[in-house]
Amino acid sequence: MENKKLLVFFWLLSSLVLSTGNGFKEVERGKVKLFVFGDSYADTGNSPAPVSISWNKPYGITFPGIPSGRFSDGRVLTDYIASYLGIRSPMPYELKNLNPKSIKYGMNFAYGGTGVFKTQVDLPNMTTQIDFFQQLIDKNVYTRQNLSSSIALVSLAGNDYATYLAKNGSLEGLLALSRSVINQLMINLKRLNGLGFKKIAITGMQPLGCLPRNTASTYYRSCNAEGNDFSLSHNQLLKQNLSTLNNEAADPVCIYLDLYGAFFSALQIEQNPTGNLTNQLKPCCAGVKGEDCGLVDENGQKKYAVCENRKQSFFWDSIHPSDVGWRTVYSALKPSLHSLPLLK
Ligand SMILES: *[C@@H]1O[C@H](CO)[C@@H](O)[C@H](O)[C@H]1NC(C)=O
Ligand SMILES: *[C@@H]1O[C@H](CO)[C@@H](O)[C@H](O)[C@H]1NC(C)=O
Ligand SMILES: *[C@@H]1O[C@H](CO)[C@@H](O)[C@H](O)[C@H]1NC(C)=O
Ligand SMILES: *[C@@H]1O[C@H](CO)[C@@H](O)[C@H](O)[C@H]1NC(C)=O
Ligand SMILES: *[C@@H]1O[C@H](CO)[C@@H](O)[C@H](O)[C@H]1NC(C)=O
Repeated sequence: MENKKLLVFFWLLSSLVLSTGNGFKEVERGKVKLFVFGDSYADTGNSPAPVSISWNKPYGITFPGIPSGRFSDGRVLTDYIASYLGIRSPMPYELKNLNPKSIKYGMNFAYGGTGVFKTQVDLPNMTTQIDFFQQLIDKNVYTRQNLSSSIALVSLAGNDYATYLAKNGSLEGLLALSRSVINQLMINLKRLNGLGFKKIAITGMQPLGCLPRNTASTYYRSCNAEGNDFSLSHNQLLKQNLSTLNNEAADPVCIYLDLYGAFFSALQIEQNPTGNLTNQLKPCCAGVKGEDCGLVDENGQKKYAVCENRKQSFFWDSIHPSDVGWRTVYSALKPSLHSLPLLK
């Protein structure tokens, strides 16, 4: 009798421990797969070389040492999330034939420059990225069972908005667009859920007003308040919609990754209310005449300069965090990642 009570007690205890994912089957670290959709904050090599500057030097100079298609001097968000899950960074879809064994870690379908709609780059939008994934399911490369212990990471860093603003866009129009972008994003997330993902981590918008591209005019001294307000309104709408989706499902599906807060704390903006942040907002690699990092002239001469200490620079180029920048963001995101169903 005593033993039975103990057993029941342990059963209850273990079911408590195992129910952190609310019914989601827990998996061991290293046994999970990661599938990635989105843009340059998550791309690890899908965007092709002629289109994408991420294959030019000095991208990849910190990791892996040569350009690898990552929009950073080193690792990006995907790599850090994979390390959290205890797996290797999933293979980019375009490079999957280079190492067929690597499909066991999942796959990365993210293409730099893309959005949920058509953007300035002619590369697969998020819908098409999910189509690629679905084709692999149809071919039984991945089964439903494989996916039940898999995690999706979805990155949306604002290329739909950049595209709109590049073409004569007004702020009012931008707010209207954000509703369509988020509606389309929700359609995509529901589709991923329907395809078998029980956990989807989705990025909130980073403070767009703090990207070097938008602070260059202040000599990288202060963030643009309108840009940041826009990020906040995007995030508010996104969070509302995510909680609706989570409440509809028996178990919460979506995990919101607060990139806004993570970037802000990394940039230590709150400790710097004067707004003159000097080099924290400055990109490590920038064109000497305002061009992009990584460009050379017709004689092969660099048109850019790289900072002396990459480890002290949050931003790598005018849009993307550096290796150390992403590591700092990842540290700030870790508490939200704890809701991913992993046995430690
Ligand atoms: C999917 O799951 C099956 C059965 O558990 C396993 O044999 C197979 O290796 C898995 N596929 C991948 C790509 O991991
Ligand atoms: C995504 O791209 C495909 C192919 O170009 C296009 O048919 C589809 O309408 C696009 N989806 C959205 C939501 O824009
Ligand atoms: C471009 O901007 C002008 C002035 O704000 C506006 O009148 C016009 O409708 C805009 N055109 C497009 C295509 O958005
Ligand atoms: C998202 O939120 C808006 C505003 O609350 C609402 O109108 C819209 O229907 C929601 N969309 C989804 C897909 O939940
Ligand atoms: C910020 O700007 C003020 C006024 O120009 C200056 O006195 C101060 O040293 C600056 N702070 C930093 C950290 O650059």
